[in-house]
Amino acid sequence: MTPAKNDSVVCECLGITESQVRQAVARWKLCDLSEIMTKTEAGTGCNHCHFALRRLLEKRAE
Ligand code: FES
Repeated sequence: MTPAKNDSVVCECLGITESQVRQAVARWKLCDLSEIMTKTEAGTGCNHCHFALRRLLEKRAE
């Protein structure tokens, strides 16, 4: 997964950006937080980004 320009980091612990999460969600058709954690490692540190990661999933579903 490649970070896009003007991208923001969603998971500070792992340095994972929003576009990387979006790409993973689309590519592997991820449906929940645990799948995002498994595929990207985002959210596997301090857990502070879990709300933001769930919001990315919700935005995709909208
Ligand atoms: S900010 Fe994502 S695990 Fe810490």
